[in-house]
Amino acid sequence: MEKISINTIKRMKSDGEKITALTAYDFNMAKLLDEVGLEIILVGDSVNMVVYGEENTLSADIWMILRHVKAVSRVVQRALVVADMPFMSYQPSIRDAVRNAGFFLSHGGAKGVKLEGGIEFAPTIQKIVESGIPVMGHLGMLPQSVNKYGGFKVQGKTEEQKEYLVESALALEEAGCFSIVLEKIPAELGEKITKTVSIPTIGIGAGPACDGQILVVNDMLGFFEGMNLKFVRKYANLNDIIRQAVREYSKDVKSGAFPSKDESF
Ligand code: KIV
Repeated sequence: MEKISINTIKRMKSDGEKITALTAYDFNMAKLLDEVGLEIILVGDSVNMVVYGEENTLSADIWMILRHVKAVSRVVQRALVVADMPFMSYQPSIRDAVRNAGFFLSHGGAKGVKLEGGIEFAPTIQKIVESGIPVMGHLGMLPQSVNKYGGFKVQGKTEEQKEYLVESALALEEAGCFSIVLEKIPAELGEKITKTVSIPTIGIGAGPACDGQILVVNDMLGFFEGMNLKFVRKYANLNDIIRQAVREYSKDVKSGAFPSKDESF
């Protein structure tokens, strides 16, 4: 079994093979995603919203992410496990950024980290990479900057934003990122960035031209009802399946049909 490394991910772009990625936060989900054969499993700070019910990602901290990174890394055999660096774990200083990024590898078992930010984070990324830690960049709509945008709004619509994002993608490549997540930008810009950089782009609401795609697993499985996102395709409706199962359980308990003799000692 070939273990996925950052070299595999980079090679897939040159081979024209699409990269598949999803988030996971717990042992069982990570096991399933790995068995199916996804290349990247991201322990996203989206855990703060889809598991803990917060309205954004800002209150996720390194302890929360570490706990989930450990649960995921423990079981994954093949996929590349990437830990998302939470808000304020890398912004205050390069020193904090390197130390906290390293923590996810040394204590969490991740194989790389992801952080949000453009050209202004290139020196931070460079230092993390120089410390031996693979970095996935993240450009476009950055959820940790939701208050700056005044909502989770599409980015890269103006000429100025487009220029900034292309310039940032090049700076992130130069700083040593092994790939870049592009979130919620026009498909045309997703294509332009993908053609401009030689490292893979992983899109989420960035159109079909990206080298790979990522979604929040709870969104694509219909296991989260917080948001109705245009770029999410629902491949299942787990909420309905769970509601139905719980209804039947409740009915059986009330009627005395559960537990049966066979289910008793
Ligand atoms: O936190 C997360 O799940 C992410 C993905 C949406 C890329 O950053």
